[in-house]
Amino acid sequence: MEFISISEAIKKGKGSVKLRGWVYRERGSNKLKFIVLRDSSDIIQAVIDKDKVGKKEWDDAVKLLIESSVEIEGDLAKDIRAPTGYEVKVKKLKVVHFAEKYPITKDQSTEFLLDKRHLWLRSRKLSSVMKIRSTVMESFRDYFQKKNFFELSPPIFTPNACEGGATLFEVKYFRDKVYLTQSWQLYAEAAIFALEKIYTISPCFRAEKSKTTRHLSEFWMAEMEAAWYGLDDLMKDAEGVIAYIVEQVLKKNKKELDLLGRDISKLKKIKTPFVRVTYKEALDILRKKGVKIKFGKDLRTIEEDKLVESYDRPLIVTNYPKEIMAFYNPKDPKDKKTARCFDVLAPESYGELVGGSERDINFDELKKALEKEGENPKNYSWYFDTRKYGSVPHGGFGLGVERLVSWICGLSSIKDAIAFPRTMLRKTP
Ligand code: 4AD
Ligand code: MG
Repeated sequence: MEFISISEAIKKGKGSVKLRGWVYRERGSNKLKFIVLRDSSDIIQAVIDKDKVGKKEWDDAVKLLIESSVEIEGDLAKDIRAPTGYEVKVKKLKVVHFAEKYPITKDQSTEFLLDKRHLWLRSRKLSSVMKIRSTVMESFRDYFQKKNFFELSPPIFTPNACEGGATLFEVKYFRDKVYLTQSWQLYAEAAIFALEKIYTISPCFRAEKSKTTRHLSEFWMAEMEAAWYGLDDLMKDAEGVIAYIVEQVLKKNKKELDLLGRDISKLKKIKTPFVRVTYKEALDILRKKGVKIKFGKDLRTIEEDKLVESYDRPLIVTNYPKEIMAFYNPKDPKDKKTARCFDVLAPESYGELVGGSERDINFDELKKALEKEGENPKNYSWYFDTRKYGSVPHGGFGLGVERLVSWICGLSSIKDAIAFPRTMLRKTP
């Protein structure tokens, strides 16, 4: 007999089955031993009866602790008392490895679980999140592949800052130094001259000194960049890809969303078009809610949260003040104090999901903005070549993968949206 997965066994519903996995729970008497078996697909109850297995098998069964790995063969029967509605009456048991006493028990602190992340990853909560994350990655790729974009992999070691010097990680590079990438953007801007429409999903690094539930120092960004694209095209793809990803997760991960206790009715409302407001309109909305904020200040967490509370879909905010935006953001000719840029803010207080913009193609403006950021334009001479040889209007955006996963899963911290989180205070395991 071939091994099948637990979910295949549950689908099968009756007959003999051969399964393998890990002991998720165990209890027993001097005649019966109950285990709940776990594999990557689901859990199922199995019962070992002293009178129905050999002496060695029974002796082994008695010694089984949580997370021991086993192979079982037996007959499947419906049992409404069992956690997933079925039970395997075990005929053969093979212990692959006897686990030591598992350190994770009920009611442990968040910090302890983070210390034991390599084990806690096996929990039903985290494995559900990781399955949803996998759908998120797959669907992002799928959306852009269907639109004839090419996937391009950017370098991770970079000589320049893309999003300002304050959050750069410096790395020793032979006898020199480089930085870990903050965004693929500058390289993407070079590559659109060859491929026109491109995307990537790649790691990004920022030395964020904030200890929030929204910031990681190593995170993954799903980014796109396209030649001939304007602000409107960019916003259409940003809302399009978010709505598509949510739709795919609802289709493929219903079980995981249920396990996480996510209110699915909230996700079902995520349809395009999203509401669009300018930064100035956002300030007016905030003022009406009693939050006073001056033009020229970036929206902080409290303001973003206040702003999104009346919307059940993500909110797009355009035209942030030029002076607070990264150097590559162009001035809006219709409103010169603002930039041709946008953010997508998640509902339910999950913060900024996407940041994007048209890219400045005016050489002098770029130089001036870089100098204002304290950068030496000389270090960007390779980037300026993109404005010298057949410059075209273009733009792109970056979607924070963990921000999106956090919101879709309804997590209370972004740390649970990635397998091994890295923050200012955590770099292990
Ligand atoms: O808004 P950001 O900084 O935009 C850029 O880096 C552009 N160069 C992207 C582009 O146009 N290609 O970052 C994009 C998104 C944010 O909206 C947020 O979702 C996520 O990346 N992000 C973070 N996620 C987790 N931890 C952090 N420290 C993050 N910083 C940004
Ligand atoms: Mg941003």
